[in-house]
Formats: sequence, C-alpha cells, structure tokens
Amino acid sequence: MNCIAAVDSRWGIGKDNQLLFHIPDDLKYFREKTTNKVVVMGKNTLLSLPNQMPLPNRKNIVLSTSVSRTDCVTCTDISSLFALLRGFNSDEIFVIGGEDVYKQLLPYCSTAYITKVNKQKAATKFFSNLDLSENWELRYQSDRQRYKDIEFCFCEYINTSPLLTI
Ligand SMILES: NC(=O)c1ccc[n+]([C@@H]2O[C@H](COP(=O)([O-])OP(=O)(O)OC[C@H]3O[C@@H](n4cnc5c(N)ncnc54)[C@H](OP(=O)(O)O)[C@@H]3O)[C@@H](O)[C@H]2O)c1
Repeated sequence: MNCIAAVDSRWGIGKDNQLLFHIPDDLKYFREKTTNKVVVMGKNTLLSLPNQMPLPNRKNIVLSTSVSRTDCVTCTDISSLFALLRGFNSDEIFVIGGEDVYKQLLPYCSTAYITKVNKQKAATKFFSNLDLSENWELRYQSDRQRYKDIEFCFCEYINTSPLLTI
C-alpha cells in the first residue's frame, strides 16, 4: 500500500475541507500515479472532491460510518477495509487522505509520494512529518519546480518497517 499527499512547509494538507494548493502539475502527477489504481479515502475527502463525486477511472474506496453510496465502495472500519484490499496488488493501492485516514494507514504504507510545497498556509489538517519519522527515509527528490510564485518538488519516502495489513 502507498500513500500520496501534497504538503506545505509545515506538512499541512488542508483547511475548511479543501486542499491548500491547486498546482496543475501536481494534479497531473496525482492523476498519473493513481489512474486505474485503487484509491482509499475518508468521507471528508470524498466530500471535498468536485461535485462530491468519486475519482474517475479508479476504484474508489471510502471509509465512513455514516455515509453509504452506490457509486463507490464504503467500508465502516479498518478490518473490513483490509479484507477488501486483500483482493488487490498492494502496489496498486493508494491512500489519498485526509488527515484522519493518513494517520491510521501510514504505518501500513510502503511508499509515500509527497509533493512538498515551499510555502506556509494556515492549515488545520496535517500529514506526519516524515523527515522526523524514524522509519521513513527519503528515497527520491525531484528538481525544484515552479508554478506562479509557488515552488514545489516531488519526493518519495520509503517505510523501512511497514506493518502488514493481514
Ligand atoms: N493535501 C493533500 O494531499 C490532501 C489529500 C486528501 C485530503 N486532504 C485534505 O484533508 C482534509 C480532510 O481530512 P479529514 O481528516 O478531515 O478527513 P478524512 O480523513 O478525509 O475523513 C475522515 C472521516 O472518514 C471516516 N473514517 C475515518 N477513519 C475511519 C475508520 N477507521 N472507519 C470508518 N470510517 C472512518 C469518518 O467518517 P464518518 O464520520 O462517516 O464515520 C471520518 O470522519 C481536507 O481539508 C482535504 O482537502 C488533503
């Protein structure tokens, strides 16, 4: 299992149930990584998507105890999620947020694809700081990219001791 997130300079990821940034190249990167894959998200993230609709061309799995939908698979707890995920190749599973779901599933992720944005926003939702996490190592960092006044880069972190989902 992998996860993918865009973070600001304090590892902030969101505010008012929205993203902090809209960087076209990052949205493209997210689409390229997750298309035709399985995406796992929390209810709030589903509700933050355009028209509150699942992402096209991906198998959408939503964790929620309160919402049940016909246009995506819903799981009411982590153990039923893990049972469902057994049917998929672990490399093809991407945890896509938000804060609550990243927190629960990060220990099970092998790779974290992190877009680091060199700007601070007034975030209220955060991702764990992988630079300070003992079992996460930076494997790759792209050259610095720029969109308008925003600088960002694509990073890949490896979990040296991921937990098993069984
Ligand atoms: N920067 C990024 O890359 C990125 C990516 C994704 C999201 N975000 C941002 O993150 C924010 C949303 O994060 P969030 O923490 O508020 O919400 P979230 O993680 O998207 O969803 C939380 C909800 O998911 C359900 N849930 C979580 N764990 C569960 C479990 N084990 N079993 C059953 N249901 C479970 C609960 O819904 P019920 O109340 O229905 O049980 C919970 O209230 C937004 O601002 C969004 O824009 C940022």
